[in-house]
Amino acid sequence: MCKNGENQSSRIHEWIGLINMDWTLTSISSHFDSRLDGIMRQTARHLLPESDTSGMLEYLLSQKGKRIRPTLVLGTHLAFGGDGETALPLAAAVEMIHSASLIHDDIEDMDEFRRGQPSVWKRFGVRQALNLGDLLLPAGFFLFLESPINAALRVRVLTRISRELMRLVEGQMTEIAGVNQEPSGWSDYRNACAGKTGALFRICLACPAELCLFMDGNPSDAAEAAATLPLLEELGTQLGQLFQSRDDLIDITGRKEGRFALGDLLEGKLSLLTVLASERLTGASRREFFTMHQTSRPRKDEAMALRMRDILFAQGIVDHAHVLLARDIELFEARMRELQAPGLISLLEDLLRRLSLETESEKQPPT
Ligand code: IPE
Ligand code: IPE
Ligand code: MG
Ligand code: MG
Ligand code: MG
Repeated sequence: MCKNGENQSSRIHEWIGLINMDWTLTSISSHFDSRLDGIMRQTARHLLPESDTSGMLEYLLSQKGKRIRPTLVLGTHLAFGGDGETALPLAAAVEMIHSASLIHDDIEDMDEFRRGQPSVWKRFGVRQALNLGDLLLPAGFFLFLESPINAALRVRVLTRISRELMRLVEGQMTEIAGVNQEPSGWSDYRNACAGKTGALFRICLACPAELCLFMDGNPSDAAEAAATLPLLEELGTQLGQLFQSRDDLIDITGRKEGRFALGDLLEGKLSLLTVLASERLTGASRREFFTMHQTSRPRKDEAMALRMRDILFAQGIVDHAHVLLARDIELFEARMRELQAPGLISLLEDLLRRLSLETESEKQPPT
């Protein structure tokens, strides 16, 4: 656990506020949000003093996402006895890396909307969007490298981040390799989720814990570190799966932040629903669904995607996806209770509540 340094005594009021704080995403995020913004803007100004004449970076920074990942970084740091403050550069770095992954993902998926606005490539063109994503990644690394943390610990954390980001890209590659293919079981989908979505969640849980458990580069309690980090990694992977299941479900009803519905079905994406369709559909509906799934754009149009959605609802695939999601949530909850950090358990419970509420409205086809 982190020890309270003497220099923290001057922040007594802040500490009292933190001690009394609810362990929810909203309260943690509102406590740190303006400082998080400040760090990201300062880094942006520092890195792109002149060249961002089109205002691309400002466009990105002005579209705040839900900030789940930086909030998890800060909450985990607090839950393991940290002050949150020390983890702010890491939290900002994670949000910048996440933004980079979304910018590139929207190019890969040809998605025209992100966070309710035209996606960066749609607004500024693919070439500049690639540049912005390419800039944000090292900017995140740079930001973290500059933080006042023990050098050995910085290397430890950065090694983990680098390894996980390779997994993220591998997950994206697996997913794209599966476009317009009938899935051959669960393994590609599970691997894609563990990479493309799980990687950042593992970073969010394990890295701030490492900041507390290895404060001077060595473990303050080797047994605690050895028991805690694998559990946090496992929870990160499970959270990636839950989060991606939610995202895949939202896609077919079209309630995602300004996006048109059915993007995944139109693109023939590997998703929770196509894996379940492959496992459960039989006879004519199976033939019809996968013939359409294997048809690529532009021959596949919205009418075809709507027909695919009808099959998924009518044949009970969507219902089953909700059953699986509920089961995965239960498994996650059971594992999360093994954490020796009550604050983090409460925070994760809050995240699960959000996920469940969001998917509840996806059980019926839109009218
Ligand atoms: C979107 O993540 C990418 C997925 C892993 C599905 P979020 O839904 O957390 O994105 P923002 O940051 O809130 O926009
Ligand atoms: C995004 O997955 C994962 C990464 C950005 C690495 P999706 O492609 O499903 O996310 P959305 O639906 O575009 O937000
Ligand atoms: Mg996408
Ligand atoms: Mg994608
Ligand atoms: Mg998606």
